[in-house]
Amino acid sequence: MNKPASDAENTTFNANRNSPRKSSQPCSPSSPKLSIYLLAVFVILFVLFQIQSLQTPPTSPWAFMHQWEKIVTNSCLSSFHDSSQELKAMASKLRESVTFLPLKDLRFSHAALKGHTWFMSSLYDIHEEGEVQYQQFPTDHSSGRVLCLKGRDRHDGSWNSYALAWPGALPDNATLMKGLTFVSYNHYDYHNIWHGLSAMMPFVAWHIKSQCAVPKRWILYHWGEIRTSMAPWVGTLLEATFGAPVDIETFDGIHRNESDVVDHDDATCFEEAVVMRHNEGGMSREKRMEVYDLMRCRSRMYCNVSSREKGLRIGMTMLMRNGPRSFKNASAVISIFEKECQKVEGCRLMVAYPHNLTFCQQVELMSLTDIVISAHGAQLSNMILMDRNSSVMELFPKGWLELAGVGQYVHHWLASWSGMRHEGAWRDPIGDHCPFPEDDRRCMSVFKNGRIGHNERYFSEWARNVLNDQVKLKTAQYVSISPVSGLCGCK
Ligand SMILES: *[C@@H]1O[C@H](CO)[C@@H](O)[C@H](O)[C@H]1NC(C)=O
Ligand SMILES: *[C@@H]1O[C@H](CO)[C@@H](O)[C@H](O)[C@H]1NC(C)=O
Ligand SMILES: *[C@@H]1O[C@H](CO)[C@@H](O)[C@H](O)[C@H]1NC(C)=O
Ligand SMILES: *[C@@H]1O[C@H](CO)[C@@H](O)[C@H](O)[C@H]1NC(C)=O
Ligand SMILES: *[C@@H]1O[C@H](CO)[C@@H](O)[C@H](O)[C@H]1NC(C)=O
Ligand SMILES: *[C@@H]1O[C@H](CO)[C@@H](O)[C@H](O)[C@H]1NC(C)=O
Repeated sequence: MNKPASDAENTTFNANRNSPRKSSQPCSPSSPKLSIYLLAVFVILFVLFQIQSLQTPPTSPWAFMHQWEKIVTNSCLSSFHDSSQELKAMASKLRESVTFLPLKDLRFSHAALKGHTWFMSSLYDIHEEGEVQYQQFPTDHSSGRVLCLKGRDRHDGSWNSYALAWPGALPDNATLMKGLTFVSYNHYDYHNIWHGLSAMMPFVAWHIKSQCAVPKRWILYHWGEIRTSMAPWVGTLLEATFGAPVDIETFDGIHRNESDVVDHDDATCFEEAVVMRHNEGGMSREKRMEVYDLMRCRSRMYCNVSSREKGLRIGMTMLMRNGPRSFKNASAVISIFEKECQKVEGCRLMVAYPHNLTFCQQVELMSLTDIVISAHGAQLSNMILMDRNSSVMELFPKGWLELAGVGQYVHHWLASWSGMRHEGAWRDPIGDHCPFPEDDRRCMSVFKNGRIGHNERYFSEWARNVLNDQVKLKTAQYVSISPVSGLCGCK
């Protein structure tokens, strides 16, 4: 049997080794087990006595007491050996009664994200108005039971399974992982920065709620299938936020033999686990903003970003892309925004290619940015790293409005959740030729990664308005103090 050598704190539970603790205790009136036993005996006798007294002429109370004493004395002499056997048998029954259900419940595939979702569908979330929705084990909600998983399959989530078990009666051969485990459900892709961030943000909300508890490990699921990595940008953001590297559990050391079929997998149980499957769903705008405030603050601390130099009043940053959704004529676009920025005292235009910046270079750049200008794309998630009330200007290639569905609005949503101002989008009216009618879905493959042109008059006026607003905002409220100052290690 292969056990993970790395985690020395993991212990294996075994029916034989795990005998009940109380078995060697002497028969004393102060023993809680004895009191319960006596109470139970007494109640049963009392009931019997009542029944008897209805049917037969009343016996003397003394005779009853005598009978009762005899029973207690007998049981005290003989039953403790038996009761320890019984307890063992009971624990073994509890152990065997732990029932594993598929992580992905196909009965709910038509409503995979609704209510209890199709992930761990037999369990409901804890949810207070405006707060994060989560599951936590063990709690009163789980009757003190911990979460156990047999969940290392990477291809079919219905082969993975979960169960709840009492800590004293874990399934045979289960490994108990000590400390706090975060279990994430992401309906989309952990390597997509936007979706990765969405799946992770509720853990930050829980972190705030739980007096800044930090997980020992993360377990990532997509459709019930285990995932072993996430976008590096998201991973580093979490490392900065929690102050510890993100250790992703893959159960690779747990199974006995590669060729074992999945249902011979041993279970892994978690001393403490928190499960998220609703992203930011259910959270109020204030709670969401608090999460992004904390991530921003912790990222700046992690990257040692110092406060801004005094001369910079407005930072305007263009986040550039190469290839898909890049500008057809980048220098022409840059010069339009440069011209408008120059008209505003204390404005500086910065042009960056985020794909070749480190995470900390991005954090620093965004700390200097009040207006970010970018084509729709992953790099725009950097907006959460600007101060609140900063502006986002987003550009789309032709065809997105008609064909891209709600997914095109993700940065509008992120701006709203993180307290930024989404200043609208510019949509290129000119694009590549599509051989089908332009509203045909097949055209999306032509337009998806189209390159973006420009409209000098429109861009100038748009930039002028956004700059004016930012100047007004900056003049009205020059606050450099973080809204989450003092929270979870935030300065
Ligand atoms: C526990 O492990 C032992 C030894 O590997 C094995 O014989 C036994 O069948 C296992 N029990 C269960 C319930 O898998
Ligand atoms: C794994 O199981 C297969 C078949 O059951 C066996 O041939 C092989 O030797 C086992 N490997 C190990 C490392 O135990
Ligand atoms: C930040 O500063 C600390 C202490 O000076 C240093 O240990 C750490 O490596 C720095 N981090 C970065 C990202 O530069
Ligand atoms: C890009 O725009 C500039 C300024 O408008 C223009 O001079 C240049 O010719 C354009 N380059 C291309 C490749 O179209
Ligand atoms: C960053 O990317 C741009 C565009 O791909 C390239 O021109 C530039 O040289 C890169 N910078 C560095 C420091 O690699
Ligand atoms: C943005 O600024 C306005 C005006 O000062 C203020 O009322 C609002 O609360 C700010 N928004 C956020 C998210 O801080």
